[in-house]
Formats: sequence, structure tokens, C-alpha cells
Amino acid sequence: MGSLTIRQLDEALKRQLRLRAARHGRSVEDEVRTILRSAAAEADLIAGTAPEHDAGGKRQAMRAAAAAAAAAASTRCVLLIIGGGIAAYKSLDLIRRLRERGAEVRCVLTAAAQHFVTPLAAGALAGERAFTDLFDPQSEFDVGHIRLAREADLIVVAPATADLIAKMAGGRADDLASAVLLATDNPVLIAPAMNPHMWAAKATQRNLAQLKADGIRFVGPNAGEMAERGEAGIGRMAEPLEIAAAAEAIMRGSGVLSGQRVLVTSGPTSEPIDPVRFIANRSSGKQGHAIAAAAAAAGADVTLVSGPVNLPDPPGLAVVRVETARQMLAAVERALPADVAVFAAAVADWRPQQASRNKIKKQGRPPTLELVENPDILSTVAHMTSGRPRLVIGFAAETDHVVAHAKVKLAKKGCDWIVANDVSPETGVMGGDVNTIHIVTADGVESWPPRAKDDVARALVGRIAAALAEAKR
Ligand code: CTP
Repeated sequence: MGSLTIRQLDEALKRQLRLRAARHGRSVEDEVRTILRSAAAEADLIAGTAPEHDAGGKRQAMRAAAAAAAAAASTRCVLLIIGGGIAAYKSLDLIRRLRERGAEVRCVLTAAAQHFVTPLAAGALAGERAFTDLFDPQSEFDVGHIRLAREADLIVVAPATADLIAKMAGGRADDLASAVLLATDNPVLIAPAMNPHMWAAKATQRNLAQLKADGIRFVGPNAGEMAERGEAGIGRMAEPLEIAAAAEAIMRGSGVLSGQRVLVTSGPTSEPIDPVRFIANRSSGKQGHAIAAAAAAAGADVTLVSGPVNLPDPPGLAVVRVETARQMLAAVERALPADVAVFAAAVADWRPQQASRNKIKKQGRPPTLELVENPDILSTVAHMTSGRPRLVIGFAAETDHVVAHAKVKLAKKGCDWIVANDVSPETGVMGGDVNTIHIVTADGVESWPPRAKDDVARALVGRIAAALAEAKR
């Protein structure tokens, strides 16, 4: 049997392994062992060769594979082709903007682009080696220009130079960028950038008309000053945020949750005792916000109702900020109807019966707080007799008997799924970046391996899309 050491793997794979290992708190070697074990279990499962007594392990491997597939289904992949213009430096920022929106980004740099930015910089920001050469045996062996073209949900060309536009219009394929563009049947968005005279030239306008007729989408160019001193007019590349928004709009139309309305609650609620004091639950809002962002990236029309958190608003969705449970319920009711509602907020169960208008002063002995129960938002929505979302998902943050408590909650709250997680202090889930969840439904329990909260969110969105599609059949 041949042998392979980790050192022989390519750099991108090594980096991914290091990240995975760090995320799971394992050595790189242990991470590789875990991956191989789960692949072997999966292979056994497919071949039906696993021993009977290993049924639990089989089920676990199948669930891990299903979760990974669900995550993959909801992750959008953008191939960014960087052309050779001064605006190429903005494309580095564009990589970040696209990733912020939940997209995986792969980069191709033309030969001219490499005069302005390096494959190393693009690769580091994308988290994957950038591709440059049609005749590089290594990259053709690893991925190949046909796979680059097919695996992208969207190809973005930024900056699209006059030369690149001419090549596209003429159907040329003499370098990696043009070959990929000719080989794709996925949507293509271009962000032209050139000198105003080149933009106005008859040849360029002819080529642009051809690309429009071919169904290529455009963003920009904008009017403004050029890099050349004293030059101004139409030809500046659109800003990275504009390009990312245009890319997102195209991807929404083809996302797994495209056309669905999704409502998500996130963060804690804060119940005032007086103007300076409050009762609240512990919650960073990271998981709820990640779910809202992943649903938006998958094409859903998302409303996020959030209690007070220290997180930026995720891009591409409507955010309603609230403080108390009663405000959260009112905002949820206003945001309905929805196809799917995910209740990830840690709602305070009680509030002081009467919040004092003025700061309560110390008067020798501590005040007695009279508490009353808050409305149960999840239960209210799950029990709606008309206009109930098709899929109502609750969360259960537990410190013991996680699955048993979640089963009770599923019945009590009347929801379709409970996503249960262990939040006891030693797990580091509270405020941390990793989560281990169990999806409890009427059909049983699905336990997922530990993974980053963003990955949990993407996998959950994939799972939601699969459930909606299943229900339609
Ligand atoms: N929830 C809600 N409104 C409330 C309390 C909880 O919408 N007033 C939702 C949460 O967003 C979560 C689920 O109910 O989706 C479970 O929350 P949790 O606090 O674990 O459950 P409780 O009903 O409060 O049960 P307990 O605190 O007794 O475990």
C-alpha cells in the first residue's frame, strides 16, 4: 500500500485541515483520522458492509454526511475572475464582501491582473489557492477549467477590461479566464472598468451589445475620476458593495430558499427593572444571526428580529431591533406571514411586573421584585390556527438531559423541530463559535458533529430547504 504524509498535501488542503483541526480542538493528524473514519463508515454504509452492532456509528456517519450535504446545498459558490486593470485592487475587497454574504469564493487571475494584485493575496482572502494558468498541469489535475466553470453558481468578472469583454464577445478561449467563461452555462455578472474613451469606442459598444444579447448581466461602470490624472467620465468600476449586492440578487433567484419568507428571532431579551437595571438571558446572538444570514444567502426573504446584541446586522435582510419579550412578540406578529420561522432567541421567561420609572434607590434592605411570566413567542406562533408558518423551529438551550428535555419541549411548544444544544459552561457554546446540535422532530433525533456556528447555520438552511421540498411532493 502506498503512503502519503500530510506534508505532501497541497497548501490549500493543509490550511483547511489546520483550520478544521483548530476548530475541533484536535491535532491535524487526529483530524485526518476522524475524517477517514467517517468516510470509511459512510463507505461501509453505502456498501452495506458495516457490522450490525455498529448501527449507531453508521447512523452517526450518515447524519454527518447528510449535514455536510445540506450545508453544501445552501452554500453559494462564486468564481471571481479578476481582469488586468487598476481597479483590480478593489476586487480583493470584493472577495471579503462576497464571503460576508455567505458565498464561497474562488479566484481566477488573468496574466494582466497579476501586474496589479497577486494570486497569493487573492488566495489568502478567498481561503483557497487562486487559479491563473490554463496549461498548469497541477491546477488542471486538481480542478480543471471545466470544473471551475461548472462548480460556480455565479461567475463575476471584476474588473472586466475592454480586452476581456472583447474576448467574451468573440468566444475566445486562449487563457484560463476566457476558457472558463466560454465553458460555463451558469449566470455571469461583469463589472466593466476602463478609460471613458475605451468605454465609448464603437468596438467596445458593439461587444457590450453582443454580451447583453448573450444574457450577460452588468453592474456599472460608474461615472467619476479615472486613475489617469485629469481623466473623468464613465468607466470607473462599480464599488465592491454594489457588485456584491448585484451578485447576491442574482444568486437569490437561484438559491435553495429562493422565494421563501423566513423569520428568525435571535439574541436575548432585556426586561427593565428600572431605567438602569434589567433582567436578561445570556445569548450572544451568533447562532441566530448566522441562520438569518445563511437563509438570506440561500435566496430567502428574511426578517431577523433581534434582542440587544453586539453583532453587526447581516447584509441582505430586514433587521428589527427590540429589547423586551413583548416587543419581540409584536415584531414577530408584524413580520408574519412567513413560510419558515426559526426561534433562536433566548427570551427572558419573566419580567418585573412593574418597571420603575425612576432609578430604585437603596433603602436599607433589597427590594422585592414581583415577576410575571412573559408571553411564549414560539408557542404562540406554533399554535396559530390560521397563517401558521409551514415549518416552525424552536431552540432548546439545555445544561443536562439535552435530548430528553428537547423532546418534552417539542410537544409542549407545538413546533415542528427543536434544535437542542448543550450550553453547560464546559462546552463553551455560550458566546463561542462552535455548536453541537441535535434536531428533534416527531420522526426522531438527528445528532450532528461539532461544527462552527456558521456551518451549523448553512447546514440547517440546507435541511430546511430539503424539508420544504419534501413537503411539496
Ligand atoms: N421561547 C419563546 N418565548 C419565550 C420563551 C422561549 O419564543 N417566552 C422560545 C425560544 O426562542 C426557544 C424555545 O422557546 O426557541 C425554548 O426556549 P427555552 O428558554 O429553552 O425554553 P423555555 O420554554 O423557557 O423552558 P425552560 O426555560 O423551562 O427550559
